[in-house]
Amino acid sequence: MKNIYKNSQINLKKAKRILEKNNIISVPTETVYGLAGNAYSKESVKRIYKLKKRPKKNPLIIHYHKLSDLKKDAYFDKTFLKLFKKFSPGPLTYVLKKRKNSRISKFANANLDSIAVRFPKHKTIKFLLRRLNFPLAIPSANISMSVSPIKASDVFDEFGKKIRFILDGGRSKIGLESTVINLYGKIKILRPGVISNKQISKVLRKKIPTYVQSKKIKSPGMLKRHYSPGIPIQLNSKRPDYKAAFIVFGKGYKGRRDMFNLSKNKNLNEAAKNLYKIFRKIKHLKYKKINVVKIPNRNIGIAINDRLKKAAN
Ligand code: TXA
Ligand code: MG
Repeated sequence: MKNIYKNSQINLKKAKRILEKNNIISVPTETVYGLAGNAYSKESVKRIYKLKKRPKKNPLIIHYHKLSDLKKDAYFDKTFLKLFKKFSPGPLTYVLKKRKNSRISKFANANLDSIAVRFPKHKTIKFLLRRLNFPLAIPSANISMSVSPIKASDVFDEFGKKIRFILDGGRSKIGLESTVINLYGKIKILRPGVISNKQISKVLRKKIPTYVQSKKIKSPGMLKRHYSPGIPIQLNSKRPDYKAAFIVFGKGYKGRRDMFNLSKNKNLNEAAKNLYKIFRKIKHLKYKKINVVKIPNRNIGIAINDRLKKAAN
């Protein structure tokens, strides 16, 4: 595929130049692939929204290489620093108060008082961030509401040639989006991820609530339907419906053609890594319905169930 570029020095330089011209490229991260653009440029940010067909009120995550760069854009306190020391760089996103004089385009954070920030770990994106003199706005590289891509060819699957440069950094190790924690006002988890509530609560030495979806609250970005392969999904199924794809977990499921196992060994991290891969496969095979068995609701299982629920909405 002509717009997928391997991770070479020459291509990294090319990627840097495209970003400096306020154009958009797709980049690998350890969670999922993203669409990256200059977070200081209104032009870049608008291009991202347009490509993704994303509602303007759903803000983006700003990605940084180092803490000293974040200082120019957001306020942070001891709580942030405790979490930062433990979990960054990595799959944790912090919602912080935005500085009045920050250069982050107001279009990137839906004109809110807050911004979401992350320090990614994948070496390709780190390489780029280190060499750019602006942070990158990077949402997942999928059309709004659809399944996040976990490899370069998935990005092609979403956008085809509409995006001119996809940087190939191999398969995303984690395969599920970052945990989002609100640190501006009441501390709470807005989106479960690999870094569990339990791990965070342990570091902060207090119990942190997880935001539960309610019909009344219309917090930006907490759109109800999301992460969806565009096929009706039935959760907590004991057996599949007629002609449905059956997503299972653990041993004891054998020999059926329409069966897709998240993890034979009942490993939740493996299941998280396989979820979007299996969603995409089922979509390509043109199933009309999906049944999913019950997934244990602990550790990263909480994040898996969050995505499954939203996909089923
Ligand atoms: O793992 C990830 O976080 C990936 C990779 C590419 O870094 N990015 C990602 O971005 O998942 P996106 O745009 O698909 O999801 C961002 C989430 C949304 O749920 C959005 O509403 C929330 O972060 N968010 C962003 N800014 C926010 C803010 N100021 N307040 C509350 N939520 C915010
Ligand atoms: Mg997304």
